[in-house]
Amino acid sequence: MISSTITGWGHEVPDNVVTNDDLAQLVDTSDEWIRERSGIRERRHASDGETTATMSIACSTRALERAGVAPADVDLVLVASSSPDYLTPPVSSQVQEGIGATHAGAMQLTVGCTGFVYALVTAQQFISTGACRTVLVVGAELTSRWMNYNDRSTCVLFGDGAGAVVVQATEADGCGLRGHVLGSDGSGAEHLIIPVGGVAQPTTKETLAQDLGGLRMNGREVFKFATRVLGTSLQQALDKANLAVDDIDLLVPHQANARIIDFAAREAGLPPEKVVVNVDRYGNTSAASVPLALSEAFDAGRVAPGDTLALVAFGAGLTWAAAIYQMGPAPLPV
Ligand code: COA
Repeated sequence: MISSTITGWGHEVPDNVVTNDDLAQLVDTSDEWIRERSGIRERRHASDGETTATMSIACSTRALERAGVAPADVDLVLVASSSPDYLTPPVSSQVQEGIGATHAGAMQLTVGCTGFVYALVTAQQFISTGACRTVLVVGAELTSRWMNYNDRSTCVLFGDGAGAVVVQATEADGCGLRGHVLGSDGSGAEHLIIPVGGVAQPTTKETLAQDLGGLRMNGREVFKFATRVLGTSLQQALDKANLAVDDIDLLVPHQANARIIDFAAREAGLPPEKVVVNVDRYGNTSAASVPLALSEAFDAGRVAPGDTLALVAFGAGLTWAAAIYQMGPAPLPV
């Protein structure tokens, strides 16, 4: 089995900052309610001209530059997104073209907020078998254009952004993905769904008139689900890696809600300094949240060679995933 390590990272968020007070001008809410229930202070909303593809290309270019990898040397582009520019073509091909990855295959993974962790696990499989040496893994979402601004309990939680990592084969032993869990329970599908716009219920004059568009979420059910799966999947991934909680150097959880992150960290017994939290500044950026948090952690010097990272996420499906990823021994790019 061939090992891997992360050699480059980058993130991209729109310049347009939308504070809780800004949202209170649009919907019946308040800064106090949003902060208390979710820990979110502000989020970014894309402006005209920005799309999931443009944000993905920007963060991918940054990640490749940092890794010192030429786009033509990328073997595979994986983009996790549930808000691609188009239903088809997949946004992964726009990213492949946009960065100039002329020799790469490209694939979009639509697994809700869990998508990036699924994609990282997928990248390792291609590297382990020797099929690929360099995989670009991206998580990107532009959900602000899909929100139903009549649903105040959901629209205040989400934001736009993108993050990317370059994963490369290495001769170093024992690093890369040490253990993982991928989960799905389709019986909970209705709790987090965009019901209109697919083939089951295409957008029509009637659905528009009835205001049926946008993301629907049963917040309480998702909350219960998230607190249940985060702890269990983390422990299962640790067991598979033959590691214990104390071996984790940094937990990078899906940034949906500060209360959910606090709960998971407390339950696992991880101190705050080992947990990455940026939900206060970006809200829930869905599949972008883990790579965005990871990229900021790299930028802040919170990841060292040899460190053990724990990435955990949950989302639409319902789905969940946990990955224990060990960095290789080589010094990280500045
Ligand atoms: N501003 C002000 N009040 C609001 C509000 C808003 N934006 N949204 C809802 N409320 C009101 C409700 O109407 C309700 O009022 P009532 O008691 O008079 O009926 C009250 O606040 C409590 O609503 P409730 O839904 O019980 O709040 P909550 O404590 O469960 O928090 C969420 C709501 C959505 C923040 C919480 O359930 C959550 O975070 N769930 C998980 C969501 C998640 O992680 N999604 C990501 C999936 S990847």
